[in-house]
Amino acid sequence: MIKICNSPSEFKSELAIYRRQLPFTPQLLDDDGRITLVLEYIEGMHIGEMPQPDFGKIAQLFAALHQLENHHGKVICHYDTNPRNYLFSPGKNRYFMLDFAEWRYDFPESDIIHFLLFFASIYSHRHFCEIFRQLITAYRQTMPINPIEWDILLPEIIQRFDTRRALFGKREQQKNPDVLHNRDFMYSL
Ligand SMILES: Nc1ncnc2c1ncn2[C@@H]1O[C@H](COP(=O)(O)OP(=O)(O)OP(=O)(O)O)[C@@H](O)[C@H]1O
Ligand SMILES: [Mg+2]
Repeated sequence: MIKICNSPSEFKSELAIYRRQLPFTPQLLDDDGRITLVLEYIEGMHIGEMPQPDFGKIAQLFAALHQLENHHGKVICHYDTNPRNYLFSPGKNRYFMLDFAEWRYDFPESDIIHFLLFFASIYSHRHFCEIFRQLITAYRQTMPINPIEWDILLPEIIQRFDTRRALFGKREQQKNPDVLHNRDFMYSL
């Protein structure tokens, strides 16, 4: 899989993560030192295409990433938590995280909230409550979540999510009658 990055700075960001040879990212096979990455090809599908992704397993990806470094509470955050950036490989029976062009140091809660917002936009309320609990429970087995930080961050991450979705022309939340209900439920950590 050849990825041509949008800019040398995005290339640098991606390389910083892929060079760590993490078990939950595709392996870095080569790079041109400028803009191109050659990555292991993960045969599979992204989690937006799956009827029942395992959110407990996906929580473990976030926990593993967030555990790598901690600078006064800020950790390596994936940031672009679009479901297309999480692949499941049936052959390896594992989930993978990819696309680190936008990663940054931030509060771990912000990554979890931003990730969940995609599913708040597409899942029914019942389904969303279930996966919310699954993800939070599994994440907390490895990493703490600060409920005060969570509540403070929620509105600003919702704003970031909506701005980005409008920018990328995605409007799926308008089609889902449960989106506001799902977002309200996120305050019940
Ligand atoms: N190593 C890989 N193995 C298999 N598929 C991959 C791999 N890397 C990327 N892909 C596929 O290509 C898509 C785009 O890759 P990536 O997210 O890295 O690039 P992007 O420029 O950010 O694209 P997008 O705007 O779709 O996020 C991914 O959503 C995934 O489906
Ligand atoms: Mg991507």
